[in-house]
Amino acid sequence: MIRSTTNKPPFDVVRCSHAVLGATDLGASEQFYAQHLGYVVTERTPDALYLRNLECRTHHSLVLQRLPEPTCEALVWKVANEDDLDLASRWFQSKNLPAAFVERHGQGRTLRTCDALGMPLEFYFSMTSAPCKLQQYDDYRGARIQRLDHFNCFSPDVQKSYEFWSELGFRLTEYTVSEESNNALWAVWLQRKGGVHDIAFTNGRGPRLHHFAGWVPSVSDLVHSCDLLSTAGYVKNIERGLGRHGIGNALFLYLLDPDGHRIELFCSDYLTVDPDLVPKRWEFRDARRQTLWGMPAPRSWFEHGTPFPNVGVVDPLIKPQPVLAH
Ligand SMILES: [Fe+2]
Repeated sequence: MIRSTTNKPPFDVVRCSHAVLGATDLGASEQFYAQHLGYVVTERTPDALYLRNLECRTHHSLVLQRLPEPTCEALVWKVANEDDLDLASRWFQSKNLPAAFVERHGQGRTLRTCDALGMPLEFYFSMTSAPCKLQQYDDYRGARIQRLDHFNCFSPDVQKSYEFWSELGFRLTEYTVSEESNNALWAVWLQRKGGVHDIAFTNGRGPRLHHFAGWVPSVSDLVHSCDLLSTAGYVKNIERGLGRHGIGNALFLYLLDPDGHRIELFCSDYLTVDPDLVPKRWEFRDARRQTLWGMPAPRSWFEHGTPFPNVGVVDPLIKPQPVLAH
């Protein structure tokens, strides 16, 4: 069921900022992300790698922590003001959810909490500055990713995820309903910054992170990434694409990093800032929603994801079977 947008959320989230991911071999991760995808290394510590994309003006847009398991430690968000952190803390406490201020390298005050299904979330306002590389073209490498675009998560209860994030002022741009399940929500795309999404939820065993996505300026960056990765020993890391989703009009390429975290390279969505934008409805059996050109996704795309630490994973409430390629 679709609900009206909350125009006055309890605190002001600007955009998705970065994921904090567990990495079992930081050297292998650095080779993949920095050497081949072109992430800029802001800082290496004994236990972490702080990476940023080309247009980032701050310390990190991806954090890899040396951990024994490839988990997603947090999905991290930038808020509009310091005061929003206090408003957020009070709001999460009012929902009987954890809310604690924690120390994070390169960031100001950071609030750690979770969403209604237990996904670990962090919110901050300030981050240490770093040089923007947007017009340092001689530093461009690999996929030439400019910034983080969005997170996509498996949810066992998409309706519940949608209602939670809508209450925080996230606006629905597109959604899929399952005709076989009484038109229940199968997936939602929700935004704060004016693109198609800052976060999306897809029906599946969860909660788990499905992928995070880097925004690239053109389709040629996707083609170049395929050429580069396939000839640099990473052909098995190319999971899906390139192609165009019907949803979001997005050109996509899905990759698996050395730990199995999925990263999407992404471009070609559209502006969604109008407050009266009518969300686009898709039906589950319309195969063009997942690939406009008709090529189905592989099974792994619907089943493989990154777990959150100490968060139980459960089967989804609805179980329509997607069309698979293999
Ligand atoms: Fe995506």
